[in-house]
Amino acid sequence: MSGEAAPTGRLADKVAVVTGGASGIGAGTVRAFHAEGACVVIADLQAEAGAALAAELGERALFRRTDVTDEGSVSDVVDAAVAHFGRLDVMFNNAGIIGAVGPIDRTRTEDADLTIAVNLRGVLLGMKHAARVMKPQGSGVIISTSSPAAVMGGVGAHVYSAVKAGIIGLSHSVAAELRPFGIRANVVIPGAVVTQMTADLVAGGADDLAGAEAALDRSRYMSRPLRPSDVAAGVVYLASDDAAFVTGVVLPVDAGMTGAGGPSSMAAATYADQAGRREGGRRVGDPGPEEA
Ligand SMILES: NC(=O)c1ccc[n+]([C@@H]2O[C@H](COP(=O)([O-])OP(=O)(O)OC[C@H]3O[C@@H](n4cnc5c(N)ncnc54)[C@H](O)[C@@H]3O)[C@@H](O)[C@H]2O)c1
Repeated sequence: MSGEAAPTGRLADKVAVVTGGASGIGAGTVRAFHAEGACVVIADLQAEAGAALAAELGERALFRRTDVTDEGSVSDVVDAAVAHFGRLDVMFNNAGIIGAVGPIDRTRTEDADLTIAVNLRGVLLGMKHAARVMKPQGSGVIISTSSPAAVMGGVGAHVYSAVKAGIIGLSHSVAAELRPFGIRANVVIPGAVVTQMTADLVAGGADDLAGAEAALDRSRYMSRPLRPSDVAAGVVYLASDDAAFVTGVVLPVDAGMTGAGGPSSMAAATYADQAGRREGGRRVGDPGPEEA
């Protein structure tokens, strides 16, 4: 750490591994963790983007090319965090792909298997090897990225939806086991976020982030589309000691997609000027003094 002032911030002196850390939500979280004082290992298949991000951030960042479907690779990146920075406080299991798409009757089994291998087995391997280090340490936080598709039909591909739901079940179960060891396990549900994954789906291709921003803006979930830094803020909270007693939870950072997704039909449009009560199919009572 020579030449750098001692880090301050909500994650000062903590060591984190971020899978899928070279792009999108993962890269946004790497930046946020680093800004909060953490040492961060970027674990991703994308060597060029991952190494560039580590070089930009400097001494407290490290890139390790990692394939989360490969147990040896996941084990190695956890060991690299311990070898370089001395411990492992935060494991963010975030790497993911859309994977198999299309009708269920035409889903190719090999595509389904890869989707499960990256999005669910990869998370399990991250949990397994993080726990190997965190148990003897007596502390740590595991955070995993799910999706609105885990809890809502019709917003994601079939296998993707299934494995994102699996992450929630896995995290709850692991949270119960690890609680006595002082280790927390939580899930974040990002909404539709402007990243390469979304650009691939809603714009002209993975690199068309401006197109993704415009397409998500038209969907009007909130005042503006979600960006990786918005999700990262939730992940920083879960990783920090502010959440010291928060475990086994699912935190949506989704502009209300899962919890407030409807069009608010009883409070807007024809009902906007009709505050009051309805009983038996008709309006009852006078408007209150504010409305009169
Ligand atoms: N963008 C969204 O709207 C959205 C919404 C809900 C959930 N998510 C989830 O958020 C996570 C991050 O997605 P994103 O939108 O930032 O996408 P992204 O494509 O920008 O980033 C995903 C990263 O994961 C890496 N990756 C893929 N397979 C890997 C493997 N086998 N091993 C290691 N790294 C691998 C990619 O190289 C990439 O850098 C994913 O789990 C995704 O399912 C995204």
